[in-house]
Amino acid sequence: MKNTQRFICTEKERFLSELLDLLCIPSVSADPKYKDDINKCASMLSKHLISIGLDNVEICPTKGHPLVYGEKIVNNSWPTVLVYGHYDVQPADPLDLWHSPPFDPEIKQTEIHPDGAVFARGACDDKGQMFMHVKAVEAMLATNELTCNVKFMIEGEEEIGSENLAEFVKNNKDKLKADIILVSDTGMLANDVPSITTGLRGLSYVEVEVAGPNRDLHSGLYGGCVANPINVLAKLIASLHDDKGKITIPGFYDKVVELSDEERNEMAKAPFSHEKYCQALDLKDVMGEAGYSTPERGSIRPTLDVNGIWGGYTGEGAKTVIASKAFAKISMRLVPDQDPEEITQLFKQHFEAIAPNSVSVVVKPHHGGEAAVTPIDSIGYKAASVAYEKAFGKKPIPVRSGGSIPIVAMFEKELGLKTILMGFGLDSDAIHSPNEHYGLYNYYKGIETIPYFYEAFAKLHCE
Ligand code: BES
Ligand code: MN
Ligand code: MN
Repeated sequence: MKNTQRFICTEKERFLSELLDLLCIPSVSADPKYKDDINKCASMLSKHLISIGLDNVEICPTKGHPLVYGEKIVNNSWPTVLVYGHYDVQPADPLDLWHSPPFDPEIKQTEIHPDGAVFARGACDDKGQMFMHVKAVEAMLATNELTCNVKFMIEGEEEIGSENLAEFVKNNKDKLKADIILVSDTGMLANDVPSITTGLRGLSYVEVEVAGPNRDLHSGLYGGCVANPINVLAKLIASLHDDKGKITIPGFYDKVVELSDEERNEMAKAPFSHEKYCQALDLKDVMGEAGYSTPERGSIRPTLDVNGIWGGYTGEGAKTVIASKAFAKISMRLVPDQDPEEITQLFKQHFEAIAPNSVSVVVKPHHGGEAAVTPIDSIGYKAASVAYEKAFGKKPIPVRSGGSIPIVAMFEKELGLKTILMGFGLDSDAIHSPNEHYGLYNYYKGIETIPYFYEAFAKLHCE
């Protein structure tokens, strides 16, 4: 891999400027207003895949946003790596909290990123991380050091639930035949503490509506006499946790896989500082389920969080009114073996059951997905471990993440393939938030690490 690494070194500047171009396109999947930009981004990406020498590059249309495919099949006896990533990004708002425009990437130093970081929506999630794979494969192809066949599948709907990708995967099982799936869309513990993500949480997402009187009412004339939907909603939501931080929905924990003491002890070895954690978030203390540490609460335990709540008057000044309706969006992060559909049903039954007669409630399910875990004794994991050790000079720690990539469980079900999650982002990179950024160190380290994975995977695959 000497020539590959040399190539990466000499092409560094161009690799960065190409990423910046990609980040200028506001490929927001959630908002139809960005449809043209989504297509522009898919087209730019397909040109990159062609220019690095991939074959059969296509922009595959779906019922929603297109995905970009390309492959290099060199030798039928080689193992095949299927790279998955996404070119769509989260909406950038609230815009006024960005220090530089979200689609006009700027490089700035931070305390954690002394070599600089690119600030832009999608810098880390997932354009920066996805593009590392394009550049790593470019380097291996240019130097004739590629040791595996490779297929790229980059979608445009990850941030809205990957619904059309699921259909594409079901209809293209032959095309997507591979030995392993490789994804960089997660994080690592710190720049000097490399880690490999071995688990993702699942997701159940619902929207609730609490309806009271048939119109907004004068809060003096009717206050005290009718149910106020906002008051009721607040009370219902508050009752979803008990004072030990446990979720009160009957049956919610029934299928949760509990970790053994040995596994929990192993987890506790990963470095974690309560003080630094609080300091980074300007908090006096943390909060969560009794009996579990902060890293456990954020990875191996299921959660329930309100993601948005609205109703009534929120404009300037005061308006004395009882709103007719109140709403909330609620996400539940799930762990193995919780079934998202079952959890959604349990939520719905419970929420309807606890609502007082004075209001009516509607629970509307949104997208969901299952949790996923990767074993650490597979050749895929071992190859990733070897790769990190070469690039960082340290053995990576296996860490379960709290985030969700629902398509990973689907890949396993439909394609029978495990996914290796080689993420290079940091929790502090502000993904989905204003001022999202991605360290230049992380970008280049990723490009450097990926070829070592191909080398080790091909070797382990033969043994
Ligand atoms: N890349 C993230 C997921 C992620 C980030 C996992 C960091 C682990 C560490 C992905 O783009 C994402 O945001 N997923 C959504 C779910 C999706 C269905 C909208 C999430 O986790 O909220
Ligand atoms: Mn992502
Ligand atoms: Mn995301």
